[in-house]
Amino acid sequence: MKITVVGTGYVGLVSGACLADVGNDVLCIDVDAKKIRLLQEGGMPIYEPGLKEIVRRNVAAGRLRFTTDIQASVEHGTIQFIAVGTPPDEDGSADLQYVLEAARNIGRYTSGYRVVVDKSTVPVGTGDKVRSVIAEELVKRGEKHEFSIVSNPEFLKEGAAVGDFMRPDRIVVGAEDDRAIELMRTLYAPFQRNHERMIVMDVRSAELTKYAANAMLATRISFMNELANLAERLGADIEHVRQGIGADPRIGYHFLYAGCGYGGSCFPKDVQALRQTARVDGGIEMKVLNAVVAANDAQKRVLFAKTVARFGHDLNTRRFAVWGLAFKPNTDDMREAPSRYLIADLLGAGAEVVAYDPVAMAEARRVFGDHAALRYASTPLSALEGADALIIVTEWKEFQSPDFSAIRDRLRTPVLIDGRNLYDPEVVRASGLDYIAIGRGGSA
Ligand SMILES: NC(=O)c1ccc[n+]([C@@H]2O[C@H](COP(=O)([O-])OP(=O)(O)OC[C@H]3O[C@@H](n4cnc5c(N)ncnc54)[C@H](O)[C@@H]3O)[C@@H](O)[C@H]2O)c1
Repeated sequence: MKITVVGTGYVGLVSGACLADVGNDVLCIDVDAKKIRLLQEGGMPIYEPGLKEIVRRNVAAGRLRFTTDIQASVEHGTIQFIAVGTPPDEDGSADLQYVLEAARNIGRYTSGYRVVVDKSTVPVGTGDKVRSVIAEELVKRGEKHEFSIVSNPEFLKEGAAVGDFMRPDRIVVGAEDDRAIELMRTLYAPFQRNHERMIVMDVRSAELTKYAANAMLATRISFMNELANLAERLGADIEHVRQGIGADPRIGYHFLYAGCGYGGSCFPKDVQALRQTARVDGGIEMKVLNAVVAANDAQKRVLFAKTVARFGHDLNTRRFAVWGLAFKPNTDDMREAPSRYLIADLLGAGAEVVAYDPVAMAEARRVFGDHAALRYASTPLSALEGADALIIVTEWKEFQSPDFSAIRDRLRTPVLIDGRNLYDPEVVRASGLDYIAIGRGGSA
């Protein structure tokens, strides 16, 4: 099938590459000429495990191409995926300008039947707006071309995006006409060979499903973080509590980890956008989500609070090693990452920071710019030399089983603040480190 993917970010590039890998003829378009040039020259704009190989393989096979030519991109695909960003507007609602611009372009240049598939995370009712914008452009041109509107929200996780796309647990398709549904079935057949994974519904329900999924996951995280803070006060250990409740199949183990707050490009903005949709379009105040946001805002500052509790407010003579900058492992994405809040607070309090991350240091340099008190280390251990504490923000695999004596020997004061509860407190303490974790009674 001929497919166009509009937007070559995390979602667009992964979708385009994976759709090409099963034999489709895919053209990816982006307005970011630098990104497209890089891709055309064989480079990768993002880090995502396994993606580079798939892109290379399909570019070499001629099934995957990149362009900035809007007209050519609209002419190419019968199926036009929209996978552009939907960043938060000032009031927290999703900014739809990129989605609607992509739709407008389709209206400007379409010359035959098109299925316009929205993969971006968009508020309920966006499908109608996309339809109107395309129809408006067709009226301006005085032309009539058929098109269908489909909502196909994306559930891939950064860091495991290729696997998630290739082996999805569900494919949500919101559509209102059989022709589009049949095309979507054909398109997704290679991704659901052993059993049906496509759940067909109306467009509005599909749009809401994506927000509901992210809001539910964010709620679990915030709930566990609040519980962790309580456990700490009461002398209980949230890790035991997690196992005790996760064993209940009605609850399950996923997304029950206490930590230093959720971040990334999705949860924070999607929870905000859902609250805003509820207020403006639904006339409802989402009380649970208000609490989820408030709890997360507080939790993003918990590592700094623990640092101040241990070292005092004046951090002028202090240096801290930070392990982990990405908002989660296996990605270089630092959007809304807890590390940003911690590092800004530490620098603001006069401390020096030496950071290490396996892949996100280039992104961190872009985010923080030049700052005399912020340096980067080439290895985890070298970040520790002369630091007053090691603070762990991201649970990268390479941090999971460190040599605690080597950590202790390099630190000026033997303090390990663990924002991800990676270790057994007894083991860490046995090596002479003061261990401060999240919600572990006695370690606060
Ligand atoms: N990142 C994730 O893990 C994830 C997962 C599921 C859903 N989503 C949703 O998918 C959407 C895209 O997210 P992302 O992380 O891939 O975003 P991104 O910011 O990484 O990429 C968006 C791309 O769209 C391009 N773009 C903007 N306007 C354009 C236009 N008119 N024509 C062509 N290209 C245009 C930008 O230049 C950019 O390269 C968002 O709505 C997001 O909420 C993201």
